Amino acid sequence: MSDPHSYARPRESRVTDVALDLRADFTRRVLEGRVKLTLVAAPDAREVVLDTRGLDIVTVEDAGGGRLAFALGPPDPVLGRALTIAVPPDRTTIVIAYRTSPLAEALQWLAPPQTAGGLHPYLFSQGQAILTRTWIPTQDSPGIRQTYTARIVVPAPLRAVMSAEALTPDGVEAASGRVFEFRLAEPIPPYLIALAVGDIAFRSVGPRSGVYAEPTVLDRAADEFADLEQMIDAAEALGGPYRWGRYDVLVMPPSFPFGGMENPRVTFATPTILAGDRSLTSLIAHELAHSWSGNLVTNATWRDFWLNEGFTTYFENRIMEQLYGRDRAAMLEHLGRTELLEELRSLRDKPADQVLCMDLTGRNPDDAVTPIAYDKGAAFVRTIEAAVGRPRFDVWLRGYFDRHAFTSLTTAEFLADLRAHLIAGDTELEARLQLAEWLEQPGLPSNAAVPASDAFTRVTTEVVRFLAGHQAPSLDTTAWTSQQWQHFLGGLPGRLSAVQLAELDAAFRFSESGNSEVLFAWLRIAVRLRYTPALSALERFLTSQGRRKFLKPLYEELMRTEWGKAEAKRIYEAARPMYHAVATATLDPIVSA
Ligand code: BES
Ligand code: ZN
Repeated sequence: MSDPHSYARPRESRVTDVALDLRADFTRRVLEGRVKLTLVAAPDAREVVLDTRGLDIVTVEDAGGGRLAFALGPPDPVLGRALTIAVPPDRTTIVIAYRTSPLAEALQWLAPPQTAGGLHPYLFSQGQAILTRTWIPTQDSPGIRQTYTARIVVPAPLRAVMSAEALTPDGVEAASGRVFEFRLAEPIPPYLIALAVGDIAFRSVGPRSGVYAEPTVLDRAADEFADLEQMIDAAEALGGPYRWGRYDVLVMPPSFPFGGMENPRVTFATPTILAGDRSLTSLIAHELAHSWSGNLVTNATWRDFWLNEGFTTYFENRIMEQLYGRDRAAMLEHLGRTELLEELRSLRDKPADQVLCMDLTGRNPDDAVTPIAYDKGAAFVRTIEAAVGRPRFDVWLRGYFDRHAFTSLTTAEFLADLRAHLIAGDTELEARLQLAEWLEQPGLPSNAAVPASDAFTRVTTEVVRFLAGHQAPSLDTTAWTSQQWQHFLGGLPGRLSAVQLAELDAAFRFSESGNSEVLFAWLRIAVRLRYTPALSALERFLTSQGRRKFLKPLYEELMRTEWGKAEAKRIYEAARPMYHAVATATLDPIVSA
């Protein structure tokens, strides 16, 4: 399958292993060193084509140190530049000396004040979707799996963590700093190669699980993720054996642009899920689920992104159900449906963007990171489950992971597997599933199950009572979970008076909430209704974390009015240096409008 987001020509020659030897220079903000690539070249291949973006290529050599001819193609703003190299004499080994740009989009270099501890600098990478090429010259396509090793030199007080087995967990002292070595023997798509460097401590929470975080965050993190080992057990019951050895979570500095990133062996996670009551750990279930759907069986191109995220969103919910019961899972599923319906509404003039198998040629694959891939994708998987019943579905799912372990799949290949191993010629079932409609049409097919949650029904009752004039303190909110509060806030109408908002805030202290999802839902309403007493909480939230999912809707909402515009520009100017390139790429056009 050809990947429109990579220059590589893997049928001619493909990279099978990446051996990094890099030094992190925090003063210049560059990674500098060499990468040795191992290739498989077809008999008639003359060239190897790699992906790069913003890299400074110093030399290219063969295994014996002989110079190899190379050429960099014209730059494309999204794809970067092809690096074309003559196939080396031994046809297997190329060594590239290079350095990254201080502006490499995959890398964020943080000054000490931007970390939780405030004393040391920090560096982390974020490769998905097509940013690995901004720090490693390799074939940056999810269909081209590669094993990797790394030797990383960092300033002495710091620790390096990678999405691989740590061969020297505490590093080894050297003249140039501290050296860390890693190895990942399983072949992965290059977007999963990941590095973090900082003042990072570790604590074990289970036999094969633990938590990395800055020392000042470690206690909170270890407590929040105490159920990690149980989550792995639950996931294994559904997906089969966990094939990556350890599963750790690294809690990132506040600017991390995503909720979580499923880097093999070590999920990178935003600190905004440290709610103090373990209420937001479904995000960890999600990243863990990617150890099967995503990392073991990977989307072949970004057009197949729903295969990663839709399956994972479904799988995440099954883990939550197993650990915390049907009620909690039903609430989470319901929240996902609400988001999906909102997204479909906002995409009403863009039917092509409502399609699961979305054509991204000529576009940034980031455009596919929407609730369509996640929640419509999960709804599709649930529809298949409902049609055949859970026992039969689970057998198929387990087999699907085993049959395709360590490979990358297109949507067509997924369909072929479904037909061969689940539908098996049952034409009535095939018709009932409406497969083509799910995969190729906009909107939500008619056979999508409607999620129901009793706990949410009770919330809706209280919303109705409040709107009918009952005072906020008289509402029955005993023992509500953060999901119920999210649903409560999401169910409030577009019109409320300042008095009503003040009453809600006084009764439930939303502006002071330590739960990022609840605070976000509240601030969104506050901005929409121009509730100025929440402005200081809004500013605090926008300047203390950089998660794009929270920032984008809040800035968008602010930009709708002249009053909000001025606030947005003022806050953004102060906060922008803290945000990651992935976030500013989304926010710059919004806030400059
Ligand atoms: N793999 C994604 C994050 C991602 C997707 C990064 C595409 C870059 C491009 C990760 O698994 C994810 O989905 N994270 C979500 C959280 C999840 C619970 C929905 C996030 O970051 O919000
Ligand atoms: Zn995901």
